[in-house]
Amino acid sequence: MNEATAQIALSDAMHREAEALEEVLSSLLEPASDQEPRVLDAMRYAVLGGGKRVRPFLVINTARLFDVADDFSLRVGAAVEFVHCYSLVHDDLPAMDDDDVRRGKASCHRAFDQPTAILAGDALLALAFEVLGHPLTHSDAEIRCELTTSLATAAGSRGMVGGQMLDLRSEDVTANISRIARIQQLKTGALIEFSCDAGAILGRADVRKREALRRYSRDLGLAFQIKDDLLDALGEELQVGKATKKDAAAGKATFVALLGIEGAKRRADFLCNQAIGHLEIFGAEARHLAELAEFAVGRQS
Ligand code: IPE
Ligand code: IPE
Ligand code: MG
Ligand code: MG
Ligand code: MG
Repeated sequence: MNEATAQIALSDAMHREAEALEEVLSSLLEPASDQEPRVLDAMRYAVLGGGKRVRPFLVINTARLFDVADDFSLRVGAAVEFVHCYSLVHDDLPAMDDDDVRRGKASCHRAFDQPTAILAGDALLALAFEVLGHPLTHSDAEIRCELTTSLATAAGSRGMVGGQMLDLRSEDVTANISRIARIQQLKTGALIEFSCDAGAILGRADVRKREALRRYSRDLGLAFQIKDDLLDALGEELQVGKATKKDAAAGKATFVALLGIEGAKRRADFLCNQAIGHLEIFGAEARHLAELAEFAVGRQS
């Protein structure tokens, strides 16, 4: 398969899986009589009908390596997407990045208001764990428990939240490469790493395969955030779906700030190839994961 055909195959697969996911997300966000409608409206607004759904794609496709049925991985994918969407809602708040546009529409606090956006984010985080704990996610309680602790670690102060804290503080300190890599690995990498590890947990992968996925996801997570920073520097709001050209003005610690545009591109390409190398153990079965790494650094939004 040449590169262009591979990209079409990937985009078809991403589209298919995003559609299946949308149904699951929507059914998990169905109105219920005991639910406050305004917070649910804001949750639905923040989650449905947008986003590339990269993290659920990773859960589904890593789980398939171990013949796990999509019924399970879609629910785990929904859980990590809920955490991701909550992180975006809070990231856009005036106290953080102060962004008015997200996924091509008004950010949650602009469409509703700040208190509602904060609560919607909180509720999405809680919902993620409600989903993981439910027997429909897996019949084996031990697997549900491992997924739960793993997502909790990835989301919390040793994961995404820790990275967001460092990211905000980095605006005032000079950064070096290892500090930037640590920020990116936590704020973005942690949920991407969880997404791949979730497939391994669901599939009871052996140590070697689990480690291979871990290495793939670490490189992918870093490459993904470097591309996000490149899109901030080079992209247009209309195409990217969020405000651009903000990181430099805010003094954010990014690879682009430290290495320049070309240096950051080279780093992202290097990480992408290294990520693909870790998939060797899975052979052709992992082709969508390899193509996703290419997508992560080649995407335009
Ligand atoms: C944006 O993530 C924020 C980062 C962690 C880099 P995505 O680029 O996955 O955003 P959506 O979900 O497609 O909107
Ligand atoms: C945010 O990184 C990562 C999160 C945990 C939400 P950015 O602040 O660069 O993400 P965007 O560019 O707003 O999507
Ligand atoms: Mg941010
Ligand atoms: Mg931001
Ligand atoms: Mg960004």
